Amino acid sequence: MSCPHLPEGFDATDPDLLESRVPHAEFARLRRTAPVSWCPQPRGATGFDDEGYWAVTRHADVKYVSTRPELYSSRENTAIIRFNGHISRDQIEAQRLIMLNMDPPEHTRVRQIVQRGFTPRAIRGLESALRDRARRIVEEASRDGGAGGGAGGGFDFDFVTRIAVELPLQAIAELIGVPQEDRARIFDWSNKMVAYDDPEYAITEEIGAEAATEIIGYSMNLAAARKECPAGDIVTRLVAAEDEGNLSSDEFGLFVLLLAVAGNETTRNAISNGMHALLTHPDQWELYKRERPATAADEIVRWTSPVVSFQRTATRDTELGGRNIRKGDRVGLFYSSANRDPEVFENPEVFDITRDPNPHLGFGGGGPHFCLGKSLALREIDLIFGAIADTFPDLRLAGDPRRLRGSWLNGIKELRVSTGG
Ligand code: HEM
Repeated sequence: MSCPHLPEGFDATDPDLLESRVPHAEFARLRRTAPVSWCPQPRGATGFDDEGYWAVTRHADVKYVSTRPELYSSRENTAIIRFNGHISRDQIEAQRLIMLNMDPPEHTRVRQIVQRGFTPRAIRGLESALRDRARRIVEEASRDGGAGGGAGGGFDFDFVTRIAVELPLQAIAELIGVPQEDRARIFDWSNKMVAYDDPEYAITEEIGAEAATEIIGYSMNLAAARKECPAGDIVTRLVAAEDEGNLSSDEFGLFVLLLAVAGNETTRNAISNGMHALLTHPDQWELYKRERPATAADEIVRWTSPVVSFQRTATRDTELGGRNIRKGDRVGLFYSSANRDPEVFENPEVFDITRDPNPHLGFGGGGPHFCLGKSLALREIDLIFGAIADTFPDLRLAGDPRRLRGSWLNGIKELRVSTGG
């Protein structure tokens, strides 16, 4: 079996491909000609028994699979990435303790508990802290840059490290009550867990696993301390011993691990890609500065799709988009493609921050695993761009972005921008 609709050897999960671009032209071809198509992968690339996956590229099919966990399980491995043959059964087993890799009813139990930390009320409770933090992050970038500015008063800086990474990190730390002095460690650990296929970081899987162990250990200590001495925060609520259906300290540790990756890396890349999108569409940047439309954050997520894909595994022989799927087949849900499906979006290739409605799948296809942090992420995006528009209205690009090597995240490592002068 091969995919006759794509160039020989094409693989949307190839990290080298995504380092330079998201394959939108190939996705468009697949949506038109073979919306559910088998993509062979180089032998030994994945560590799975098979050597390929089904690429699901249409909006309707991504939704269909996402909402049928009984047919398409999350228990095998949800990241459709190449592991260079290294993923072991032990690793897959270990990942099953994380909510993202559970199926109902196990998933439902954990999700119901942690959801308590993400109610609209809880997010509203963070609003003023996040607003202040967003402003401070941008002001600090402006102050530091101004201090090193050139003769004309202008300066340039890396938007990713100075601005995009900070708010998501602080938001999660705020949410789970990590003290200020420990926050940089959480950030470092979460980086190590997702970036190991980018050689620039020189991070091995062992280092990634070590970082995961450290983050879990740290969080378990945090949970144990709150059990001992309740503080009225979310950690206390999640691990409160007297509550029915509480989380154990280890379950809490794994939840923080999930949050550190799911909340940091995704939102950071939404902000970096969003800045790039706004600066490369000057009409949209002008519109944003003038009107600050509430619809902008969703369009940034649709257009940039920070999470390119997730994966499911068929639990039995079934059929999808006219293709026969066998039990055990891996099925890749390409949100990046679904988010440009012309069946759903008018002028999908147009970046339009006033787009409304915007039923994008950037946060998932709506099933049980739908992003827990959606409201928080949208608030963060909105707050940071509001602060940037106030402080740096003349911001412009000072070079091409350097993209993350890897196939799961549409990531930017460095984005030089300049202001003033
Ligand atoms: C799950 C995207 C921000 C926490 C997901 C999924 C996607 C996603 C695609 C999988 C959905 C599925 O399988 O159906 C994003 C994007 C974000 C973002 C694009 C930023 C723009 C956040 C934030 C948090 C978070 C800020 C938490 C603070 C989670 C969790 C899950 C998840 C815990 C797993 C839910 C489950 O398995 O039940 N996210 N996310 N995400 N996200 Fe997000």
